[in-house]
Amino acid sequence: MPKPITRSERRRVALPKALNISDLRQIAERRVPRVVFDYLDGGADAEVTLGEAWRVYDRVMFRPQGAVAFPECDLRVRVLGMDLELPFLLGPVGSTRLFHPGGDMAAAHAAGETGTAYIQSTFSGHRLEDSRAATRGPMCYQLYLIGGRTAAEKAIERCRNAGIHALFVTIDTPVSGMRERDFRNNIKQLLARNASSIAPFLSQFVTHPRWLLSYLADGGLMQCPNIVLPSGPMKYADVSVALEQSVVTWEDLHWIREVWDGPIVIKGVMTSDDALRAIDAGAAGIVVSNHGGRQLDCVLPTLRVLPEIARAVNGQLEVMLDGGIRRGSDVVKAICLGAKAVLLGRAYAYGLAAAGEAGVARAIEILRGDVIRTLKLLGVRSLTELNHSHVEVPWVWEAEARASRLNV
Ligand SMILES: Cc1cc2nc3c(=O)[nH]c(=O)nc-3n(C[C@H](O)[C@H](O)[C@H](O)COP(=O)(O)O)c2cc1C
Repeated sequence: MPKPITRSERRRVALPKALNISDLRQIAERRVPRVVFDYLDGGADAEVTLGEAWRVYDRVMFRPQGAVAFPECDLRVRVLGMDLELPFLLGPVGSTRLFHPGGDMAAAHAAGETGTAYIQSTFSGHRLEDSRAATRGPMCYQLYLIGGRTAAEKAIERCRNAGIHALFVTIDTPVSGMRERDFRNNIKQLLARNASSIAPFLSQFVTHPRWLLSYLADGGLMQCPNIVLPSGPMKYADVSVALEQSVVTWEDLHWIREVWDGPIVIKGVMTSDDALRAIDAGAAGIVVSNHGGRQLDCVLPTLRVLPEIARAVNGQLEVMLDGGIRRGSDVVKAICLGAKAVLLGRAYAYGLAAAGEAGVARAIEILRGDVIRTLKLLGVRSLTELNHSHVEVPWVWEAEARASRLNV
């Protein structure tokens, strides 16, 4: 179980001065070497989708109601049968131990302390059982079929034994996106992690001695303990090749359903057709997601496709969204447009890179405060009251939605 965060730890990393997620991002940029920061911050190709992901929230405007008084706002939400205190979950982010040795365990602990759920990536450097033990909140597991069906079935069995609540099956990664920053920085070489592989990074590392010491001391860093092959846990360096041999298809959902009784969520849905396929496959939920702009570039921002997807599924499964959430008002806008809750990605990962668990806790605290303030300013007491009437979207979104309903 990670140690509780001390006050001095918070002060040392100047967290109270971080007023928003962008401030945490800047602290993260100073604290980790460029190769690591770019892996966290970057997107695919020209990063068009990456930029649009957060800019799109600025195009949605609020319609507040004034002179409404209430002492407290109710942020509670029930998602996939989990009772959460917050309308955001911590989504799957791989390789978190590269940002901070606390990695998933620190993030899971912070999530549990604030009453929300943690979703651990297949590409975690921590055993899923250890992260599970680190949080008193619910935990879910994101599944790639990497290592083949046998390896996936073993991971699913471990999930069941560890008390994992739901599986999030990611469908948008038949091949890794072209993340140009990672190629230029040669992150693959860093991930090989032997004495000669870190030599080219020394000039970056000497300016980040604290990060370097923790990186060198962290023995488990470069393995994926939840992908167990006959030869042992998969090495990080082998992941991208293995990913291409492990494409998830809708047929796979059938056998996953047979070996997993709990809720299944399809992550990476960007069209209403795929949302309807997810219903047919027996999913309990979907995440409208473009993988944080790290896969197909120039795909629409998730907020833009959310209303049509929410309309198409018509309550037959739970709709979540991720991508570009940097403020609590973004969370509120997504709920107004049809999401039950959202997943955070970089928002909490910047916090982790900035200051370990204290940084994750600060990210959650910032967004929680934002959501409460936004609801009060909107004149709305609880999340359940939010709907489309609290926001105005660009007229072209409405026109396109009308046209698609009329099939023109
Ligand atoms: C560094 C990094 C690693 C990620 N690793 C995974 C992963 O292993 N599995 C997965 O389904 N999504 C992964 N994602 C995508 C996130 O779950 C989420 O969809 C995305 O970060 C949301 O966008 P945001 O970062 O703008 O909030 C990763 C994202 C980042 C930034």
